[in-house]
Amino acid sequence: MIPTEREELKGGVAVLDFGGQYAHLICRRVRALGVYSALLPHDTPVGDLEAARVAGVVLSGGPASVYAGGAPMPDPALFESGIPVLGICYGYQLLVRAHGGDVLKADKREYGRSSVRVLERGGLFKGVDKDELVCWMSHTDSATRIPSTMQVLASSDNSPFAAVRTADGRQFGVQFHPEVSHTEGGQAMLSNFVFDVCHAERKWSIEGFLKRSVASLASLEGRVLCAVSGGVDSSVTAALLQRAIGPRLHCVFIDTGLLRSGEADAVRQFLSEDLGVNVTFIDASRRFLDALAGLSDPEEKRRVVGRAFADEFEAFASAEGPFQHLAQGTLYPDVIESGRSTGPASVIKTHHNVGGLPSGLSMKVVEPLRELYKDEVRALGALLGLPQNVLRRHPFPGPGLSVRVVGEVTAEKLAACKEASRVVEEVLQEEGLYGKVWQAFAYVGDDRVTGVLGDERRVGLQVTVKVVESVDAMTADWAKLPAEVLEKISSRITNEVEGVVSVAYAISSKPPATIEPQ
Ligand code: XMP
Repeated sequence: MIPTEREELKGGVAVLDFGGQYAHLICRRVRALGVYSALLPHDTPVGDLEAARVAGVVLSGGPASVYAGGAPMPDPALFESGIPVLGICYGYQLLVRAHGGDVLKADKREYGRSSVRVLERGGLFKGVDKDELVCWMSHTDSATRIPSTMQVLASSDNSPFAAVRTADGRQFGVQFHPEVSHTEGGQAMLSNFVFDVCHAERKWSIEGFLKRSVASLASLEGRVLCAVSGGVDSSVTAALLQRAIGPRLHCVFIDTGLLRSGEADAVRQFLSEDLGVNVTFIDASRRFLDALAGLSDPEEKRRVVGRAFADEFEAFASAEGPFQHLAQGTLYPDVIESGRSTGPASVIKTHHNVGGLPSGLSMKVVEPLRELYKDEVRALGALLGLPQNVLRRHPFPGPGLSVRVVGEVTAEKLAACKEASRVVEEVLQEEGLYGKVWQAFAYVGDDRVTGVLGDERRVGLQVTVKVVESVDAMTADWAKLPAEVLEKISSRITNEVEGVVSVAYAISSKPPATIEPQ
């Protein structure tokens, strides 16, 4: 368990991660109730949970079958420990099995909306004043028998035991997903568990986090170097450190040549002029592009960019140092997704700001936002006085446009990618759609297609426009933009961006595609 997490978790709720896609969502829903929640490895020992004085535990969903060999299991002592437990989907099936019930592959799978009949009002369903609820299901296995010590609270056509509780009223299981917004009364159920069963403490707020972080960062010794990219995360990190340690903070903005159009100017404006942060601007674009020359493997490009960043920091630090710390804007999902903190979630991509720094770095890494979700970071940024255009800017990957130029990063492809992305952003801003989508950009690969310019044949690049909707980047769907908006984007790109003759629109969701093309 991360030490600060352990401190925060006192009176909060631990979510054990069995690999389900909604595990983060459970944490966020609990935090929305004002109760701290962290995602911990599925096999976290009960002794650790007790030492952290957690008020309760939620077992997340997961893709495995509880009866399969090697299926992830919690510490078996959990169910006898007296800690309140809410099992969701796979977690519910674990609970049923732990108490002697049976879980088998179901005849009929249940995906999406399901109608659930409430059999016991009050308790978990307190405040949910309906007999039939629309609940979100996603399972192939079902509980076929529950032990006599368990009470059935709700049922559906395919799940006769859709919600159960143990006789002592301290352990609950639901086959459906209360954390998903499509589940009617889901937030009330979580609230009933968190407050009535766990008696969790309502002490989590961004204001409180700000106060505690400023106090703890103020005790950092020496000078802190913070790399700022213009993105929300590093900007909020810098503003937080500025509040905590003021002149002992020194920010460095490395222009990698892989940034969005206008980024460098925007950073200069708000960091040095609006917030009064010490900041040095370094134009390292030549060095980054030279280091990337000839490389096309995405993970290799990420590593090279990560190393080039680290080299720049080291060079700056030895010229301007000593600096004792290096601050980074790593967020909670980055920590989890890189497999550094928890459970069976596999490494999907090496996020450069988590995985790629050389171990010989002479500064200690400080990550003040590592417990926060993106929306919490935005709220923190607003408290710190960051302008809305910075807070609302779409997320941007640390390795920058190197992951949006598919294949080798050449000057031609890079320029096309940057300019086409500028057009996408501008059109969405004009149409009032920018704030309604998660990310919007253009990417470019090596496809050459034939076009006509005037009366002449002209072979040029094809760019792909990608606009996605998401809540947390773990899953995403393509945005169904109006045809006129797509048309405007396409014609502006081919008119304004040198060398581009064709525009495609990406209509894949995540999964199977990831948001970034590489
Ligand atoms: P994917 O492409 O994995 O992206 O669906 C999920 C979210 O993370 C961002 N992303 C990155 N951020 N370093 C980062 O700091 C990276 O290497 C990286 N790769 C992806 C991406 O923009 C999306 O919001």
